[in-house]
Amino acid sequence: MMFSGQSVIITGAGKGIGRACARLMAARGAEVIALSRTAADLESLREEIGGRSVTVDLADPAAARRAMAQAGRADFLINSAGINVLESALDMSEEGYEAVLGINLRAALIACQEFGRARVAAGGGGAIVNITSIAGHRGFAGHLCYAASKAGLEGATRVLAREFGPHGIRVNAVAPTVTLTDLALAAWSDPAKSAPMLARHPGGRFASAEEVAAGIAMLLSPDAAMINGAVLGVDGGFLAV
Ligand SMILES: NC(=O)c1ccc[n+]([C@@H]2O[C@H](COP(=O)([O-])OP(=O)(O)OC[C@H]3O[C@@H](n4cnc5c(N)ncnc54)[C@H](O)[C@@H]3O)[C@@H](O)[C@H]2O)c1
Repeated sequence: MMFSGQSVIITGAGKGIGRACARLMAARGAEVIALSRTAADLESLREEIGGRSVTVDLADPAAARRAMAQAGRADFLINSAGINVLESALDMSEEGYEAVLGINLRAALIACQEFGRARVAAGGGGAIVNITSIAGHRGFAGHLCYAASKAGLEGATRVLAREFGPHGIRVNAVAPTVTLTDLALAAWSDPAKSAPMLARHPGGRFASAEEVAAGIAMLLSPDAAMINGAVLGVDGGFLAV
């Protein structure tokens, strides 16, 4: 019950990695305030772990700010809401750019800003983890806007660490490899597609959402009191080779 008496805002908590974070943080005692787009997901999450939720389309900056205000002051923030639109560089559309950057980067920065303002007003303290990706570090075909959004979020994480650090707020990122959420399971179940990618992983396997959540919880915990502005690969060694 390491997070007993503390609260965490989690964007994208309805599914996948965000949901695994919600389960783990609740199991360790935190009150979870879940922000996501699909009301049914949030309802089933509340039934499962309690807590509060706000249904919001984070693509809309004003709605994102209102949702953060509704969420109220919390000790921690996890930015997990994210999407990908697969387009080759030659075919990049402005709609794809707007959709991917709008969620993965703008909404994450708005959430960090509103969280930071509330924490500073409360006298400081707290921690943020932004979820980025190995795709911010390696050139995967079709991931032009996604890579830009994740590399951008890592740069922003360092600036936030620097500006929020004096207020006692730590800001870090985790960069997961392929993580077997429901959607990813479908996308990677074909061995012909997954084998070359798995061969680039020293451990020979992809991550589970629970393993990514465990890395995030570690970065939020007092064990990481001196870790600020870092990007932690949760990638089974993919980025090391
Ligand atoms: N799954 C992977 O292989 C993988 C690998 C590296 C990084 N990531 C990153 O991890 C994060 C979570 O990914 P996931 O696999 O759990 O995805 P997912 O699709 O399973 O879940 C994403 C969640 O974000 C929410 N969301 C999406 N757009 C939203 C919007 N406009 N407003 C509000 N909520 C919105 C969805 O409703 C959903 O609950 C993302 O940032 C993703 O880029 C995932």
